[in-house]
Amino acid sequence: MVAFRRDLHQHPELSGEEQRTAEAVVAALAELGIEGRRVGATGVIADLPGPGPVVAIRADTDALPIHEDTGLSFASVNAGVMHACGHDGHSAMLLGAAALLLENPAPTAVRLIFQPAEETGDGAQSMIDAGALDGVCAIFGGHLDRSYPAGTLAISEGAVNASTDEFTLTLKGKGGHGARPHTAKDALLAGAVLVTTLQTVVSREIDPGQPAVITVGSFHAGNRPNVIAGSAVLEGTARAHDHGVREALLAAIERQARAVAAAQGVEVDVDIRRCTPPLRNPADGAALAWQIAEAVGATPVPFDVTNMGGEDFARYLLHVPGCYIRIGGDPGGESHPAHSSRFDFDEAALPHGAAWLAECARRGSQLAR
Ligand code: NI
Repeated sequence: MVAFRRDLHQHPELSGEEQRTAEAVVAALAELGIEGRRVGATGVIADLPGPGPVVAIRADTDALPIHEDTGLSFASVNAGVMHACGHDGHSAMLLGAAALLLENPAPTAVRLIFQPAEETGDGAQSMIDAGALDGVCAIFGGHLDRSYPAGTLAISEGAVNASTDEFTLTLKGKGGHGARPHTAKDALLAGAVLVTTLQTVVSREIDPGQPAVITVGSFHAGNRPNVIAGSAVLEGTARAHDHGVREALLAAIERQARAVAAAQGVEVDVDIRRCTPPLRNPADGAALAWQIAEAVGATPVPFDVTNMGGEDFARYLLHVPGCYIRIGGDPGGESHPAHSSRFDFDEAALPHGAAWLAECARRGSQLAR
C-alpha cells in the first residue's frame, strides 16, 4: 500500500484526467489476480465474485491544482498538481482491502469502485450513470482526516458533509459618469446591497439548529474611480446538512437576487448550479461501521464536527444504504490541512482503512433493504 500510494502521490492527475492513475490501479489489481475494468474516461471497477447482493467499497483517485511544497522524497513530479487531499491514500486502502478480501473472502459479491473526479463533484454521478451501483445493496468509504491519529475512525450517523451548490448572480444596470449618478443604474451598489442581504438568509430564515452557510466568494464590478459600474457579478456557495434547508437556501438566494434587483432598478440573471447533496449516513449504516471499526482493532469515536465541506460519496447514499467515515491520519508536527500545499498524512492509517473497508465488504449485506 505504501509503495502504491507513493507512486500515485508522485504522479497526481486532476479530476477527469486520471489516465495514468487508472492504468496504475488496473495494473496493481492485476498483480493480485483481480481484473479491473475501465469505466468512463478514468474510472475503474473490479468485481470480486460471490452470491448476490453486491457490497461496494469505494475510493476516490483525483488530485488538486496545487503546487506541492512538502519536500517529500516522493513529491509530485507534475508541476501545479498535487495529492493534497489524501485520495492517493484512499486508493491504496482500497487496493489493500482487495488483497485482504482475497485472503478472507466476503460471503457476497464485492465491487471495488475507484472513482475519479471527486474534487469537481461529478465523479460519483458519472460512475452511477455507468452502472456502478447496479445490484449493489450497500456502499462504504472513508476520508483521511488529520484531526485524528492513525487507528482512530470517526463515525456518526446523519450529516457528515454538506451540500455544495454554487451560484452566479449577474446584475445589469447602466454605466455612467461618477459625477452624474442620476443618469446611470449602479450595478455595483445593487451588488453590495445583495451581498449584505444574502447574509440575512441564514440568520433570519433558517432554523438556528440547522447548519447552513452562504458565502459570496467573488464580486467583480467596475474598473474606474469615476465611472459607475454597468454590471456586477457575484459568485458564491450555499451549504446545508439537511435536504429541506438546502432547498430553502437556494430558493431564498433567487428570491433575494430578484427582489434586490427590482428595488435597485437593475436586471439580474440568476444561475444556480446544484452540485453534491448533503452526505447523510443512515443510522443502521453508521452503527454497523462502528461495530466493524471495533472488530478490526481500530478505535471508533463520534465524528462530532459540524463539517460544511462537501463529498460526492453523498450521491451513492441517495440510492443505497452504507456509511462514510473519517480515517485518522495525523502525521504530527505542524498542522497542514487538506488542500494545503504541505498536506501529508500518516501512512500508518493505511492498514486500518484497508481492514475496515474489507470487513465492511464482508458484513455490508446486513444493510440490504
Ligand atoms: Ni478529499
